[in-house]
Amino acid sequence: MRVRIVNQDYGQINTAKANFDEIYVMDDPRSYYSVLGGLDYLIPDVAEPVIRQVLAAKTSGGKRPIVLDVGCSYGINAAVHRFPLTFDKLRRRYARREMVESSSDDLLRLDANYFAAWPDRGVAGFIGLDVSEPAIRYAKSVGLILDGVVADLEESELSSDAARIVSRADVILSTGCIGYLGEATFRRLLAQMKRRPWVISFVLRMFPFDRIAQALSDFGYVTEHLDGVSFIQRRFRTRDEFDHTLQTLAALGKDTQGLEGEGLYHADFYISRPAPKKRRNCRSVSS
Ligand SMILES: C[S@@+](CC[C@H](N)C(=O)[O-])C[C@H]1O[C@@H](n2cnc3c(N)ncnc32)[C@H](O)[C@@H]1O
Repeated sequence: MRVRIVNQDYGQINTAKANFDEIYVMDDPRSYYSVLGGLDYLIPDVAEPVIRQVLAAKTSGGKRPIVLDVGCSYGINAAVHRFPLTFDKLRRRYARREMVESSSDDLLRLDANYFAAWPDRGVAGFIGLDVSEPAIRYAKSVGLILDGVVADLEESELSSDAARIVSRADVILSTGCIGYLGEATFRRLLAQMKRRPWVISFVLRMFPFDRIAQALSDFGYVTEHLDGVSFIQRRFRTRDEFDHTLQTLAALGKDTQGLEGEGLYHADFYISRPAPKKRRNCRSVSS
């Protein structure tokens, strides 16, 4: 199975982005942590405190919300939210010789015990959606997600079983996957929701969010962008990726000094909610 790398909304921008297709579809996350960890992939860690605060605001004393993690891969956001773990700590776990030498089946058994052994400090339960069947199978079998959906909503509708699973979401989250997927995914998800979930998006600055904000606006959502802050995603893999990204951002009129100019991809934070809220430190995204 191949992950479709070029989303038509972002096709041109994606051309020089490094291709990670292979590590998304392994039976376990060892290559994911090794390859992305080698590029100091950080977004799940730096996003986590923000996600936690949004979830706390969303919960406000009620029942534990359900997060639908779109492009969840091997359940990384669930792991760093629920347990006292970081991406780097997990990378080091899988780099140990005995872990490198384990079969995938053994690794899944070890990981199920490993995650079960930590206190769950999460304020939410997670369900996941990803185009990668092995990643969803892993995340579910080791207990990181309660349920999972394998789907590419850029290409096709949700099945009725999948629609039932995603419809439980109180919050839709994405890190590191907008660019692979775009507005079509959000339109198809929003059409299925029982509640009106908040939408948390961490998006590389080179991927315009306007069309997704417009899709959400069509469902009655207001999108806000957190100004003055960006979130490091990872280092560039190649000189080409660096040069192309700087050109893309310059064409978008975005200043890269002190950000991508230092060799690091940066992501923006957007939150989309059904009703207008107080907007201190935030500006609305006009679509
Ligand atoms: C860089 S990973 C991000 C994973 C995780 N959110 C994180 O930050 O560590 C991108 C993920 O998007 C998934 N993906 C790519 N295209 C997709 C699509 N059309 N629908 C759902 N998931 C997709 C890939 O399989 C991969 O797991």
